Amino acid sequence: MEIRNAEVLITGANRGIGLAIAKMCAREKAKLHLVMRNEETALIHELELLGAQSVKIWIADLSRKDQVENLLHQLSHTPIEILINNAGLLTGGLLEEQPLEDIYSMFQVNLVSLVHLTRGLLPQMIKQGKGKIVNNSSVSAIMHFPCASTYAASKAAVLAFTNCLNIELKGTGVSTLCLITPGIKTRMFDDIENKYGKNFEVPSDYMDADQYAQLIGESIKKDDEHFRPGGMTQIGINIAHYLPQLFKWEAGRRFRR
Ligand SMILES: NC(=O)c1ccc[n+]([C@@H]2O[C@H](COP(=O)([O-])OP(=O)(O)OC[C@H]3O[C@@H](n4cnc5c(N)ncnc54)[C@H](OP(=O)(O)O)[C@@H]3O)[C@@H](O)[C@H]2O)c1
Repeated sequence: MEIRNAEVLITGANRGIGLAIAKMCAREKAKLHLVMRNEETALIHELELLGAQSVKIWIADLSRKDQVENLLHQLSHTPIEILINNAGLLTGGLLEEQPLEDIYSMFQVNLVSLVHLTRGLLPQMIKQGKGKIVNNSSVSAIMHFPCASTYAASKAAVLAFTNCLNIELKGTGVSTLCLITPGIKTRMFDDIENKYGKNFEVPSDYMDADQYAQLIGESIKKDDEHFRPGGMTQIGINIAHYLPQLFKWEAGRRFRR
């Protein structure tokens, strides 16, 4: 699907991968709708300078159902064509040591709000006969590392949700892209060591966020169903998928309680 001239909504657009996607879409001359928790107005000018046709900021805390509902209500007259569900939270460590409140918020942001926003914006896309839903999952959806139990569960659910939806949407003009996101150098990436490091020797490969956003743009234009990372990370994914006992042995070797 073309990004040029499209009305694109991006969650978690104020930093990290979301901001890199916003910049990529701005260079493609899209009309941007950025969802964030706090109004960062300086971004409007920056993205307009990069080429965005328009930039609008929408405020919502995606861990709160009422705020997601309110956002959808405000968007009811805006025909979003590309929805990029990117916002996310990281949880990690031994399950019994993960704060319960963090687990609830994480599932709410990573999974429940993503389903809620998709369900809310889909009818309009189907009516238009055109649309793209991009969901940011993770290599953790397939590579099940210790210390990632709750986070990986949210990302595996995002992958399953997107795959089911893809079949439902056949013939509607609306399609999905699920991002099997590898390590990307952002604040979340830097937090992995803090959350997992005590018990797990974390693989440390990563890619630059702007470079990744460029690849996401190509996947949107090519109507790919999944973005797969390639390289060594893809080899790890293939081992997890086809040789699960070998993957489990290697992950276990890096773990200490
Ligand atoms: N970085 C990686 O290595 C990696 C790997 C695989 C998948 N991913 C996925 O990629 C996505 C983006 O991650 P990132 O690396 O860019 O992380 P990041 O730099 O930590 O950015 C996370 C974004 O999500 C937003 N967010 C968090 N909680 C929110 C809430 N309650 N309401 C609204 N927005 C909220 C943050 O907004 P605030 O600034 O307000 O907190 C921020 O914009 C996530 O879904 C993540 O799981 C990342």
